[in-house]
Amino acid sequence: MRILMVCLGNICRSPSAEGVLRHKLKQAGLVDKVFVDSAGIGGWHEGDTPDKRAQKVAKNRGYDISGLGARQIQPDDFSSFDVILGMDHNNIKALKQMPQGSAVIDLFLNYAHAERTEMVDPYYGDMQDFDQMFDLLEVGCDAIIQRLKGQL
Ligand code: 4NP
Repeated sequence: MRILMVCLGNICRSPSAEGVLRHKLKQAGLVDKVFVDSAGIGGWHEGDTPDKRAQKVAKNRGYDISGLGARQIQPDDFSSFDVILGMDHNNIKALKQMPQGSAVIDLFLNYAHAERTEMVDPYYGDMQDFDQMFDLLEVGCDAIIQRLKGQL
């Protein structure tokens, strides 16, 4: 199973989602069965490590995302991943305008069956927005783990 997390810049939401899900997969003993990666709709931050605010909140919660590097989504990703999870409706719209492959495209929080469906962009926000982002990521990733346990 291969899951790609996607947001606009690949420096705030999707690398954080990648870090949280990978951590929880390790805890659940599923890390060998599920490959997680992240990418951005845009390539402005190609090669950049995640936003320092995201790194800080991640570290406070026991996740290490400092080694991740941003990349732009590629045509191959639509076939090489089983599931592509966009963080907000704009991400989904952009993903659906690209050439499609076999990958299922869904909103991260929808796939996780969470009450909220959208992960708002914290880039122009403050530390509280980043904390809220991680709250949602943790709830969502826990739900994804439960979902995967039933599938794998
Ligand atoms: P992200 O946040 O999509 O969660 O990584 C953003 C980061 C950078 C930009 C936009 C959103 N940007 O326009 O540079």
